[in-house]
Amino acid sequence: MAPFFNLLLILLPIFAVLHHSTAAVSYPKEALPTKSGYLKVNSTTGSAIFYTFYEAQSSYENTPISQTPILIWLQGGPGCSSMLANLFELGPWLVNQDLSLEPNRGSWNKIFGLLFLDNPIGTGFSIAASPEEIPRNQYDVAKHLFIAIKKFVALNKSFKTRPIYITGESYAGKYLPALGYYILKKNALLPSESRVNLAGVAIGNGLTDPVIQVATHAVNAYNLGLINEKQMTLLEKLQLEVVGFVRSGKWNEATNARNMVLGTLTNMTGLATLYDFRRLTPYPNRVVVKFLNNVEVKKALGVKESMVFELCSKPVGDALHDDVMKSVRYMVEFLVKKTKVLLYQGQCDLRDGVLSTLSWVKKMKWEGIDEFLEAERKVWRVKGKLAGYVQKWESLSHVVVLNAGHLVPTDQPMNSQVMIQDWLLERGLFAAEKIEKDGH
Ligand SMILES: *[C@@H]1O[C@H](CO)[C@@H](O)[C@H](O)[C@H]1NC(C)=O
Ligand SMILES: *[C@@H]1O[C@H](CO)[C@@H](O)[C@H](O)[C@H]1NC(C)=O
Ligand SMILES: *[C@@H]1O[C@H](CO)[C@@H](O)[C@H](O)[C@H]1NC(C)=O
Repeated sequence: MAPFFNLLLILLPIFAVLHHSTAAVSYPKEALPTKSGYLKVNSTTGSAIFYTFYEAQSSYENTPISQTPILIWLQGGPGCSSMLANLFELGPWLVNQDLSLEPNRGSWNKIFGLLFLDNPIGTGFSIAASPEEIPRNQYDVAKHLFIAIKKFVALNKSFKTRPIYITGESYAGKYLPALGYYILKKNALLPSESRVNLAGVAIGNGLTDPVIQVATHAVNAYNLGLINEKQMTLLEKLQLEVVGFVRSGKWNEATNARNMVLGTLTNMTGLATLYDFRRLTPYPNRVVVKFLNNVEVKKALGVKESMVFELCSKPVGDALHDDVMKSVRYMVEFLVKKTKVLLYQGQCDLRDGVLSTLSWVKKMKWEGIDEFLEAERKVWRVKGKLAGYVQKWESLSHVVVLNAGHLVPTDQPMNSQVMIQDWLLERGLFAAEKIEKDGH
């Protein structure tokens, strides 16, 4: 044989290896979503919401699939993709730093269906036919989501009867109340077979009543020993500027001023991230971007090769810039009367943490608020280990998750799974109050 061919035989496998290491990350079949693709929200223009759905891994208490709850997850931002939660927080397969996938024991689809939506259009793999179509307010966000959810439910006859719980974190603290409110208002006008079967709302480290929440950063950081009194005074002055802009309806300036508060706090403390004061480096979530920009991965998910995946979309962030400081607390007040609401926070988050949330909760206009505030805060343990605290009154539950920052499921996979399951199924500390059962 000619030496040339011998050389080829030696080199070919080397080329193959090189090629493999630079390009071909594949999506293992067993890790693929049960369904994924697009839900059109505008049939004229083609704008569509990208979704991935994972069916429940097993059933509980002999619940038939037609009654098995579906959790819908919305990421915050504004404009960040729910694929972050899917592959880095609470989906059944998480992406490792070497871009391999690994089963997540703390997945939220252990006994429930789990649907991730890239919301609003223009986010993640979702498609905005034009920048003008990207929602600029919560009403338009909810309108698109309602259409998308109805389209999803129509994909399978067994979805129709399943209770739907809407969940998410951070800026979804605005999307979720807006969506819940929209669904309940819309349902009231629709025949029963056209309604969305909403059964509850869960908000993690949420931004919901921003003008109250922005005023808590200084005192929170001071009490943690991260800034001194002089810095606290300066930060409070900046916080008051935000409040001033909100009071005069200068929404653009208000959002910019809030960014100044967060930037100043970051610089004063020297922290790597406000998402968790314990972290020495930001959450290593760029792997999600690397993984999803792979051609084979896009193909497997039903996404066009030409789509570039970004964790957070600037056009969407810009479209909702003036919305950031607007409160949706009144929508939560409406929801606690009609359905159940869970508010949970990782204790180490400096953006939308415990104090930040409780400062608006205590101002809620709701007939149960005094009882809620007076209710005992119970020590929450998982398998005998301290996990956090639960406070509950009727439809409203509040959970502090210990040893967790902004991304609670990433930091506490098993505890977050127990929390969502027990809250939804009303078990353990989430069981209905005795006094109610005994008829007083
Ligand atoms: C669909 O897009 C058209 C053109 O931008 C717009 O007029 C219409 O309101 C949109 N419909 C929905 C449901 O967003
Ligand atoms: C509908 O959903 C059920 C439960 O996930 C599944 O077993 C069934 O295969 C689905 N049917 C279709 C046509 O996808
Ligand atoms: C924080 O520090 C960085 C780097 O020095 C600087 O560019 C930025 O303007 C600072 N931000 C604020 C809000 O002071």
